[in-house]
Amino acid sequence: MFSARQFVRALPVALVIAGTGAAIAFAGPIEERQALMKEDGKAGQELFKMFKGEAPYDAATVKKDGDLIVKNLEKIATLFPPGSDKGPPETFAKAEIWTDPEGFKAAGDAAYKAAKAIADSTDEASFKAAVPALGEACGGCHKTFRRPKG
Ligand code: HEC
Repeated sequence: MFSARQFVRALPVALVIAGTGAAIAFAGPIEERQALMKEDGKAGQELFKMFKGEAPYDAATVKKDGDLIVKNLEKIATLFPPGSDKGPPETFAKAEIWTDPEGFKAAGDAAYKAAKAIADSTDEASFKAAVPALGEACGGCHKTFRRPKG
C-alpha cells in the first residue's frame, strides 16, 4: 500500500506532470493562433508549389492541405478574444481586429470559403482555379489586420 508519507513525496511529481499537461492544453490564444497560422503557411506553400508547377499535382495532398487549412481557420476564428491584443508572447495582431469585428469576420469567411474550394476541387484544373482566391484571402486579411514582422 501507498503510505501517507509516500503519497506526500509523490505529490509534487504528480503536480508537475499535471502542470505540464495544462500548459500544453491551455496555451494562450496567441500561441495557439500563431501555431495554427504557421501550419496554414506550410500547407499553403505546398499548395502554391503545385499551383506553380514546381511540384506535381497530387489530389491527395490537395485534399489534405485544403482540409487542414479549413479546420485551422475554423479554430482560429475563436482565438482572438478581447484582451489578446497584447502579449507576451509578442503578437502581430492589429487593433483593427477588435475595432472592426465585422471586417475581420468577413476576411476570415473569405479565406474559409477559398480553402474549402481547394479541398473540394476534383482535378488539377479546378484546383488551379481555386488557388488564387486563397492567396488573396490570406494576404488580404494580413494586410489589414496583421502588423508585418520585424
Ligand atoms: C481573418 C484574418 C486572417 C486570415 C484569413 C489569415 N490570417 Fe494569417 N494571421 C492573421 C493574424 C492577425 C496574424 C497574427 C497573429 C498574432 O501574431 O497573434 C496572422 C499570422 C500568420 C502567420 C505568422 C504566424 C507566426 O506567428 O509565426 C502565418 C504564417 C500566417 N498568418 C499564414 C496564413 C495563411 C497561409 C493564411 C491563409 C490560408 C492566413 N494566414 C489567413 C490573420 C489572418
